[in-house]
Amino acid sequence: MEQILVTGALGQIGSDLVDALRQKYGTANVLSTDIRNNLDDPNYAMLDILNKQRFREVMGDHKITQVYHLAAILSANGEWNPAKTWNVNFNAFLSLLELSNEMSIDKVFFPATIAVHGPTTPKTNTPQYTDLSPETVYGISKVSCELWANYYHKRYGLDVRSLRYPGVIGWKALPHGGTTDYAVEIFHAALKGEHYTCFLDADTRLPMMYIDDAIRATIELMDAPADQLTVRTSYNLAAMSFTPAEIAAKIQERLPNFTIDYQADFRQAIAATWSESIDDSLARKDWNWAHQYNLDNLVDEMLHQLVTNKIVTHV
Ligand SMILES: NC(=O)c1ccc[n+]([C@@H]2O[C@H](COP(=O)([O-])OP(=O)(O)OC[C@H]3O[C@@H](n4cnc5c(N)ncnc54)[C@H](O)[C@@H]3O)[C@@H](O)[C@H]2O)c1
Repeated sequence: MEQILVTGALGQIGSDLVDALRQKYGTANVLSTDIRNNLDDPNYAMLDILNKQRFREVMGDHKITQVYHLAAILSANGEWNPAKTWNVNFNAFLSLLELSNEMSIDKVFFPATIAVHGPTTPKTNTPQYTDLSPETVYGISKVSCELWANYYHKRYGLDVRSLRYPGVIGWKALPHGGTTDYAVEIFHAALKGEHYTCFLDADTRLPMMYIDDAIRATIELMDAPADQLTVRTSYNLAAMSFTPAEIAAKIQERLPNFTIDYQADFRQAIAATWSESIDDSLARKDWNWAHQYNLDNLVDEMLHQLVTNKIVTHV
């Protein structure tokens, strides 16, 4: 039986990924970890990924065979402390690669991001292989992780797999510190009957994905036969692209009283360097990736789940 370790498990994606992995492998076989404490979780350990000795102990004590490495500082927050962001996002990942090799870990997953793109990357239908010159420390750290993942695979045969997630939209946990956070916050405001001020311009088009698709993509990639995978940096991955004005209009079709205005802050400059749409044909070809959610069913699902699960009280 696999013994799985998830880092950064209390974050937006970790909250959903741990549930999905536990459904597949059983709670006892999926160890959730994060830098904060979580007394509610029966299979949880506190782990600061910067503490390599502790990382080794946790992996050894739990006889870990697979690692899903989510812990990171995201794009917008990363700009407040670039050196710390590099340390958490890159140096800790390098430690994980070293430990995984040393401890003969079967498979490692880490998410890269559309933030690996920069101002010189083609903006539409961005190819898998293209110029990656990001201008945020987050993007720089993730491109570096991609290259080191590829290096460890080629040099040591370590089975590292990765996806470049678009902006991920889910209902279980609020995102924080990312450039696409508006696309979750907007639902909370709309259901509470509040006006929403968006921190990106109305026409800022970005690639996005519903959380269920992102989680399914992660598990399908990890389940794919190794010899089918031709990309060992990180796969482009896509579902839909939209602007703040377009998602606001879809919400207004369902909640006509919802109002929005736009006051761009520093995150607009970050978003302006990213792609608008992604060519993920290699993911579709190599391991049969197919998204299920478009903008309409994403909006329906978000409103439904936030209300049904009482995350937000609909006024
Ligand atoms: N959410 C998105 O839209 C998105 C898009 C692209 C890529 N990603 C990637 O997915 C991963 C998860 O993203 P998320 O949205 O869940 O982020 P998040 O900020 O919600 O969660 C990150 C988690 O990492 C933990 N963490 C931070 N520093 C740590 C440390 N030193 N040791 C241990 N844990 C630490 C935090 O406590 C947090 O719970 C990240 O690697 C991120 O780069 C996310």
